[in-house]
Amino acid sequence: MATAADTWGINEAQFWLRGDHPEQPVKFDPATGLWNVYGYPEAHQILSDPKTFSSDTQRLLPEKVAKNFEAFSEGNLVNMDPPEHGHLRKLVSHAFTPKVVADLEPRIAELAGELLDGVGDRMEMVTDLAYPLPVIVIAELLGVPASDRGLFREWVDAMLNNNVQFTLTDTDEMEKQTAVAVEQVGKLTEYLREHAAERRRKPREDLLTKLVEAEVEGSRLSENQVVNFANVLLIAGHITTTALLGNTVLCLDTNPEQYAKVRADRSLVPAAIEESLRYFSPFALVSRATTEEVELGGQTVPADQLMMLWLAAANRDPRQFTDPDTYDVTRPANPQIAFGRGIHFCLGAPLARLEGRVALNLLLDRFPHLRSDPDDGPTFVPSPSMTAVRRLPLLLTPRA
Ligand code: HEM
Repeated sequence: MATAADTWGINEAQFWLRGDHPEQPVKFDPATGLWNVYGYPEAHQILSDPKTFSSDTQRLLPEKVAKNFEAFSEGNLVNMDPPEHGHLRKLVSHAFTPKVVADLEPRIAELAGELLDGVGDRMEMVTDLAYPLPVIVIAELLGVPASDRGLFREWVDAMLNNNVQFTLTDTDEMEKQTAVAVEQVGKLTEYLREHAAERRRKPREDLLTKLVEAEVEGSRLSENQVVNFANVLLIAGHITTTALLGNTVLCLDTNPEQYAKVRADRSLVPAAIEESLRYFSPFALVSRATTEEVELGGQTVPADQLMMLWLAAANRDPRQFTDPDTYDVTRPANPQIAFGRGIHFCLGAPLARLEGRVALNLLLDRFPHLRSDPDDGPTFVPSPSMTAVRRLPLLLTPRA
């Protein structure tokens, strides 16, 4: 029987979204040469131990694939290990503390309000709200013109729509596929390079200027470091939050009794967001490289292996979550790991949570009736490394 997940076009690789649970939490795949990790305790173990599980995964990629990424690795926080990772992270962490982020609430509410002013009795959730809201917020923080967001969308869409199948065995295919993604990221990098150069000439009150002026151990960041760091912030700062906003509305729409609970009691909005992060984890996959032989989930994993951690599957592990395939906003505890954990824990988590809360409350305030269009169902981003609604047409009844 076709499930809703099938009709949404969910990727085969994301079998857990269909309610399937893997027999083995850690499994080597000889076809790709990669280790897949699906279990919660195993993902937890990996994320908590950066010494054994390094974020510098590029060293294990075949040379011709690695060279595709070379230009982007310098200053890319996500792929760095201690101590360099900590030095660089410290440079921007103050810009994303819960207190600093809380002060952004009025601006986020204003932006969300303006975006919703433009809709009538129907909207497309992603184009009308879930995409523009986070991209404008992160563009304003960085100090690049939010009006260029059409360009970012074009580049990032081209990157995500290219359904990369990770493999270490078919290097030609991997090279071909990553080349497409890299070409798009390259456009974003060049764009940011121009803005960074401008800030060097004329400093402003924005994050890009702070990066240009920042010093680590007494020396300035290189141009590549600045640009790649800004790139991570710009990309990580919007696509995942776009997914969170769209996914949350879909979760509520497809679970009417949960939706009714949230409408009746708005103090459940943060829990609805957390549960959506667990149920449809936007950043479905992170990777690590083993630095030594290690026991994991009953397997012996040798050194220098590439580990694919499916956070989205771990968040549905029945050993950790009761009824993992049920969207339940009243779960007594929800230690979901959609933002990762440990030293690489998502820097933007407070911002993403705030944007989610503001946007959902505003939708509920403005539209007493809001539901998906039965004649025009949702679709998902095809990339297995994301769980993200790509299109979600909604029918609305505005408040009289
Ligand atoms: C790291 C998810 C929103 C910036 C991460 C990681 C995950 C994640 C899983 C860990 C990667 C790893 O361990 O390898 C998400 C999700 C989001 C979100 C699900 C939205 C729902 C944001 C936002 C920003 C951001 C809004 C920026 C403003 C970052 C950065 C890192 C990161 C800079 C790297 C941190 C480090 O390596 O130390 N994110 N993210 N993220 N995220 Fe997010």
